[in-house]
Amino acid sequence: ISLASFNTFGLEATAKEFTTIHSVEEAQALIASGVFQKQRVLLLGGGSNILLTKNFDGLVARIAITGKKVIHKHDAHVVLKVGAGENWHELVMYCVENNWGGVENLSLIPGTMGAAPMQNIGAYGVEIKDVIEEVEAVEISTGNIKTFSNAECRFGYRESIFKQEAKDKFIITGVTLRLTTKDHHFNCSYGAVHDTMIALGHDVPSVRAVSDSVIHIRRSKLPDPAVIGNAGSFFKNPTVHADTFEALKKTYPTIPSYPAGDMIKVPAAWLIEQCGWKGKRFNNIGVHQLQALVLVNYGGGEGEKIWELAMNIQASVRDKFNITLHPEVNVI
Ligand code: EPU
Repeated sequence: ISLASFNTFGLEATAKEFTTIHSVEEAQALIASGVFQKQRVLLLGGGSNILLTKNFDGLVARIAITGKKVIHKHDAHVVLKVGAGENWHELVMYCVENNWGGVENLSLIPGTMGAAPMQNIGAYGVEIKDVIEEVEAVEISTGNIKTFSNAECRFGYRESIFKQEAKDKFIITGVTLRLTTKDHHFNCSYGAVHDTMIALGHDVPSVRAVSDSVIHIRRSKLPDPAVIGNAGSFFKNPTVHADTFEALKKTYPTIPSYPAGDMIKVPAAWLIEQCGWKGKRFNNIGVHQLQALVLVNYGGGEGEKIWELAMNIQASVRDKFNITLHPEVNVI
C-alpha cells in the first residue's frame, strides 16, 4: 500500500501491511494479536512529522480514534478529553468556536491530537504541555491502559517521555486538555502575533483574534502541505552556552537569539540561511524560500534525497558555526 497520502511530505514510500485503529479496544486487539512481536510496527497520526526514506517493511497502523468529550466544566475552565485521531487544527477551531482558551497560538499546526504530546508541539510562545492534563495510552507489552500525568510526560522543547524511555512502548489513544472558559491568558509575546492581530482589525485580544493572527502569520510563510510537501521545521532550534554565544556574536553581530534557561537558543533557520541554503532547489526537493528551516518536496521527490540534503545542511552549519542541528522530524 502506498503511504503517499499518509505523510505530509507526500513521499511515495510503501508499507508491507496497513491497518487503521478506531478505538482503544482495537488498539488492545492489535497488541493481543502478537503483531508487535512478529514485525516492525509504525504508528502513524497525521504523518506530518515523519520523513520516510525507504519503503516500510512492516505494519503501518494509523490511529483514527475520534471523539471529544467534556469531562468537567468548572467556573473558569473546561476539561476536555480528545481522541488521539482527531485532527489538531479542527480541534483548535472547535475550541475557538466555544471561546475556550489555551490552544489558539497552536492554530494550523498539521497533525493529530495523539501525535501532539510526543514532540510537545509549540508555536508563538505556547506549547501543548501548557494545557495537557493527562495522556492516555495503551502499553504494548501488556495491553493495559496507562494514564500519564503532565509531569510524567516529562515535556521539554520538542521532547517528551514518548520520544525517550516510552518510545515504541505505548499507543497514545487520548489526551485530556484543560482550557479556560473566561479570564483567558493570551500570549502575544511574539511581536508578530500582536501586530498582525491589530492589522486584522482586532483591537483587543480574544481567543479568535489570536487564532486569526497566528493563522495569518503561518499562511504567509509556511508552505501548505496540501500544496507543497513538507513536515514543518525539519530541525530543532539549537541551544548554546552563553560564552559560545558571545563568541559567535563577535563574528556575527546580527545573530538572533532567545533566552532558554541558562542557555541561549539560536534560530536554526538563521544558521541555515547564513550557509546559503534558503530557497535552494535540487530537482524536485529543496529548502523553502520563505522559511529556511522547512525542507520541501515539490512533487516526486525521494525521502532519501531529502535526508541527504538535511545531512548536507547539518554539515555546513557545523563547519561554519560549530553547532550541530538535530532533526525534529522522525526519520524512518
Ligand atoms: N529566520 C531566518 N531565516 C528564515 C526564517 C527565520 O533567519 O528563513 C530567523 C529570524 O531571525 C526569525 C527567527 O529565525 O526571527 C525565528 O523564525 P520563526 O519565527 O519563523 O520561527 P522558528 O524558530 O524558525 C519555531 C518553531 C515552529 C513555530 C515557530 C513559531 C521549531 C523547530 N520550530 O520556528 O514550529 O511555528 O517557531 O513559534 O521550534 C515546527 O515545529 O514544525 C514548527 C513549524
